[in-house]
Amino acid sequence: MKKKAIIILLSSTTLGTGSLAAQEYITVSTQNISLALKVSDTKKLEQVYFGNRLKNDEELKAASLPAASAYSTFGGTHTFEAALRAVQSDGNTSTELRYAAHRTEKRDGNIVRTVISLKDAYYALSVDLCYQAYQKENIIEQWVEVTNNQAKGVTLHNFASSDLSFSAADYYVTQFHGNWAEEMNMSQQHLDEGIKIIDSKLGVRSNQFTHPCFLLSLGNPATEDYGEVVGATLAWPGSFQFCFEVDPQKRLRVLSGINPYASSYTLEKGEVFKTPALLYTYSGNGVGEVSRRFHRWGRQYGIKNGSGERSILLNNWEATYFDFDEAKLVQIIDDAAKMGFELFLLDDGWFGSKYPRNSDNAGLGDWHTNTQKLPHGLPFLIEEAHKRGLKFGIWVEPEMVNPQSELYEKHPDWIITQPHREQSLQRNQLLLDLSNPKVQEFVFGVVDKILTENPGIDYVKWDCNRYVTNSGSQYLKPDRQSHLWIDNANGILGVMGKVSAKYPNVCFMACSGGGGRMDYGSMKHFDEFWISDNNDPLQRIFTQWGGQHFFPAIGMASHVSASPNHISGRSTPLKYRFDIAMAAKLGMDMQPVQMTEEEKAFSRNAISVYKQIRPTILYGDLYRLLSPYTHNRTSYMYVSEDKSEAVLFNFLVRKNINGDREAVLLKGLDADKKYRITEINRESDKWSRVSEYEGKTFSGDYLMTVGLRFGMYSEYESVVVRLSVP
Ligand code: DGJ
Repeated sequence: MKKKAIIILLSSTTLGTGSLAAQEYITVSTQNISLALKVSDTKKLEQVYFGNRLKNDEELKAASLPAASAYSTFGGTHTFEAALRAVQSDGNTSTELRYAAHRTEKRDGNIVRTVISLKDAYYALSVDLCYQAYQKENIIEQWVEVTNNQAKGVTLHNFASSDLSFSAADYYVTQFHGNWAEEMNMSQQHLDEGIKIIDSKLGVRSNQFTHPCFLLSLGNPATEDYGEVVGATLAWPGSFQFCFEVDPQKRLRVLSGINPYASSYTLEKGEVFKTPALLYTYSGNGVGEVSRRFHRWGRQYGIKNGSGERSILLNNWEATYFDFDEAKLVQIIDDAAKMGFELFLLDDGWFGSKYPRNSDNAGLGDWHTNTQKLPHGLPFLIEEAHKRGLKFGIWVEPEMVNPQSELYEKHPDWIITQPHREQSLQRNQLLLDLSNPKVQEFVFGVVDKILTENPGIDYVKWDCNRYVTNSGSQYLKPDRQSHLWIDNANGILGVMGKVSAKYPNVCFMACSGGGGRMDYGSMKHFDEFWISDNNDPLQRIFTQWGGQHFFPAIGMASHVSASPNHISGRSTPLKYRFDIAMAAKLGMDMQPVQMTEEEKAFSRNAISVYKQIRPTILYGDLYRLLSPYTHNRTSYMYVSEDKSEAVLFNFLVRKNINGDREAVLLKGLDADKKYRITEINRESDKWSRVSEYEGKTFSGDYLMTVGLRFGMYSEYESVVVRLSVP
């Protein structure tokens, strides 16, 4: 095949464009990693390499490396799961993609985008493989755009965002799974020949049982600092699927994307199907580096205002549930201000008149203030907060409706349901059908109206308390019912995008009965997410540990709540509760009026300390030291970018009768800098576990080589240490 064009520099932003001949390469590279793709003799696009960036990419061509399809399709000789399965307009079930052209351009100083166009060898169907390489963060974002140019419809049955191949001696995958109140548990398993699927079929609140992310270790199970590991997460709030298939030659293919389950999608002439993006990285230095890359990327690109400011908030949910009135709220606001909080968040129960929202069985959908509870409306409460120097936040759940509501009476046609089947309620509620543009407009209108009528609102907690069942749309045509899963997710993403564009300065929290909606598709429009309804600190240690693998602390809201815990019933010291919440974005879900004077004094002090260490936690680099899964104590630390500040958290997770004296070897410090050690959040009446270090300075070298050695003995004990360059 004759070469049509070579790479040419067209402008300051276009790095390359052209049409390659057989055996030529395209590399998608960041500062430290590369994905190399090759055009085969038959013009198929193949992946030949993914790993650390070489000093000289040209050397990749020296020998023939194991090649696998860069985007496999159903049909022909392909006998494994395929990234794309399309039925052409004449009923042909196969697709054969050939490389057509590519374009590489610099989007700015850090982002390089490569689009590789593939075309079917016979049919008018094109597939663009799109890669965005974030140079400094070493993250690759990949998505796919399928265009039908045939006169009639083409139906897609599988439509992965990415199709990555690996050739290693062994593979281990770590998944993140759980349920309500126990999100983000981690478990690792060896991949044997055959298929392992990690997926969600829930459509909305799709992370309730599984989270859209994985770690893949190559060769051996990766540790924090050693081993080859790939981390990936899908930026999509809907149903997802990761399919790991090991073939008889022990090669592994990983297909990631929207869950194709019951989701066939027909494209009419000219229509484009854009998949969500898979975000991924490769590290030869273990899992810690993968997390730090995602954190840096998340703060810079993945989270709305990801490097902005965050407020320490007090939420009235666990403090009052639905049982509040104006006087009670003003009291809480007053106490919150005196304790040093920066924002008051009014949770569920403030709305509904014909069907007042006094429990979760009525009123959802009727977004007008309940004047029986709040006779002076929201403006009064906003004013009460603002005059005490507190910001004001409000709870909404605009995608849902109670059957007992004015909205449902007016619009029974707006809910997701299957005709002639019994309606299924979860938490007494139904889902609105976001594939319907009128419903999209309504949902946008709910948030828009609250925010325009109350310009003093600084924060919105956007909740979502059920997943999809009875997956039928009253809006979509009978032959398009299978579009619901995808159209609904795109509908909600569209609404979120419109809201965040109109209100860039309002802080949004993504909540989904806890951590049912933690994905980088949503987080582009949200400043933080509520990781769990379960504030029990022992459970939180595990939930936050899991969450930290892909999300930075700035995105992860964590609250101190009452003891015994309302969900687990476990009693724990206030310090333990504060320490774990301070290891992320601190807030509180209890009323100061329920505390003793000592507890109030402790809380006031902890809040003021958090304000000092907040930049290190929210913008610093995370180093995990001891895992709660494999050690009796867990430790991790945040280090500021200039390495002049660090905060070390230690929590005892399993009490050993003779105490736990494991050495804590610090990481991420500057070996040549000297750090002064100060324990923070110490209870005045307790022994300090680190008294022999208190106030002394040690070099980063010492701290990382010899470490801190101190015993931890008591149930629910925690030690937090600040390290500062004097
Ligand atoms: C579920 C959330 O996770 C809670 O924090 C609270 O906002 C309730 N919903 C309110 O109904």
